[in-house]
Amino acid sequence: MSNIVNYDERVKNFDWSISEKELGYKAGDVINIGWYCSDRICEMGKANKMALLWEGLGGVEKKFTYNDIRLASNTIGTFLRSLGVKNEDRVCLFMDKVPELYIGLIGILKIGAIAQPLFSAFGDESLFVRLDNAETTAIITQKKHLAKIRKILDRMPYLKHIIIVDYDGKYPLREREVAFSLEEATPIEKIDIYPTKAESPSILHYTSGTTGQPKGVKHVHYSLISQYLTTKWVLDNQENDIYWCTADPGWVTGTSYGIIGAFSTGVTQCVLDSGFAAEAWYKFIEKYKVTVWYSAPTAIRSLMKAGDEIIKKYDLSSLRNLASVGEPLNAEAVVWSEKVFGLQFLDSYWQTETGSIMISNYPGMKVKPGSMGKPFPGITATIIDPDTYEPIKEEGKIGLIAIKPGWPSMMRTYWNNEETYKNKFKNGWYLPGDRSTIDKDGYFWFIGRDDDIINTGGHLVSPFEVESALLEHEAVAESAVVSKPDVVNMEVVKAFVTIKAGFTADQDLELNIMNFIRKKLSPLAMPQEIEFIDSLPKTRSGKIMRRILHAKEWGEEIGDTSTLEND
Ligand code: WT7
Repeated sequence: MSNIVNYDERVKNFDWSISEKELGYKAGDVINIGWYCSDRICEMGKANKMALLWEGLGGVEKKFTYNDIRLASNTIGTFLRSLGVKNEDRVCLFMDKVPELYIGLIGILKIGAIAQPLFSAFGDESLFVRLDNAETTAIITQKKHLAKIRKILDRMPYLKHIIIVDYDGKYPLREREVAFSLEEATPIEKIDIYPTKAESPSILHYTSGTTGQPKGVKHVHYSLISQYLTTKWVLDNQENDIYWCTADPGWVTGTSYGIIGAFSTGVTQCVLDSGFAAEAWYKFIEKYKVTVWYSAPTAIRSLMKAGDEIIKKYDLSSLRNLASVGEPLNAEAVVWSEKVFGLQFLDSYWQTETGSIMISNYPGMKVKPGSMGKPFPGITATIIDPDTYEPIKEEGKIGLIAIKPGWPSMMRTYWNNEETYKNKFKNGWYLPGDRSTIDKDGYFWFIGRDDDIINTGGHLVSPFEVESALLEHEAVAESAVVSKPDVVNMEVVKAFVTIKAGFTADQDLELNIMNFIRKKLSPLAMPQEIEFIDSLPKTRSGKIMRRILHAKEWGEEIGDTSTLEND
């Protein structure tokens, strides 16, 4: 039987104290996610249960029991303390999906510091703006990413420690750099866990904004209450499950469900530290006998593209619950997964700011392929009119998704940006910035975002960030960035560029600019196409009208152009 048992019953009788009770937490108690993810599971008699089955490049394997996770996180926490890292200091995790990333996050939380995970494919500029905003004290990284940090070091006086987890002695360490090897360090049996309370900060995740620099979403230790229960009721993790969350902890799915949800429910999880490849993924599921699989639409569409034939080569019969998040999951993908795996992917909707699943499909509840499902028990969600901010009653009408604030894992603010945070609330509702309809049965159907942010393969990219970076290229005079349709990634980045005199608009320049953005920002932010044009559409006040370029890419009506300068 599924953990949720019956969705409607759970909605009727819901109270977050259900989660608090299961976790043995009472208001006012100390609550430390690091302890809940390791020590508590050991105290429940599962010290020798496998917590993490890790596989890296070339099939290298590492295995950690809950006791191993407990000791290793104590060891990292103690090491950080020995450097002088204190509670509430920001400690950045800048690594591939290596065990040190998972265990490091737990260690950071144990000493009351704030974990700031960043996607390791970020280039130096993406890294800099996020470290600079958080005034990060220490960064834990691998030697392969060191060059990017060294490049921006002079601009970061607050960054005191650069901790390298795989230092091999080949090149001398420079100022502020220090080596730390989890394998060679003496395991620390006991650590004074910092007595964090419900509202103590835990994680700072950066997410892209439309108009400004990325925003640091501040979460607190109390978020566990949501993350634990949503893991149990949506992903349905149970005692004997082997759970695989394919997300990178540089993004919120990878922390909320790839670390906190997984370890706090005491499940055995596996991690594959390599990029996407259909056969490698099927092989991984077969090898580890994965039962619960949390993935993303782009990956599912890529699997569809790889074809049904290769699936027959693998025994995937261990799978029993599949879920998806990050971008619209098209109906075809749900129908396909039922055909090939005998299971429908359960779509779930949430975002960095919400910290946990808000709207979802649930084991045992009827799935309407293409719909995001219904609000998690305890979550009041609706759609509201964009002008009046009043709930929309008419069936089928499009409105802004609106959620009543007050669930445990809601962000507490944007770091150093209280004003933008406040702007996310209207008429007593929190607005995630998305549009949807609701059908007569209460199912939500995603329509699109309510801003210019590009969601490429489940990753948000700010057109503003890409445009700013483009302007730093020597050939670029002006730029405008929009999304264009893509079969697998749904949306990809496209840039319109006017160039300076003396440069030639040709393929070499296009590749050169693409590469420039990939290195500076990230492979995700890199435009898949650059169109050189003579002038950009602007309003009479000089504002670039992305809307017009966007409409052209998507073959949509251009709409009102009365304010256009070059009419
Ligand atoms: C944005 C949040 C939360 C995990 C990863 C993304 C879009 C998310 C869905 C879905 C359609 C979705 C929304 C949302 N999104 N889930 N099931 N269907 N769109 O976190 O980077 O903060 O992005 O992703 O636009 O606001 P994020």
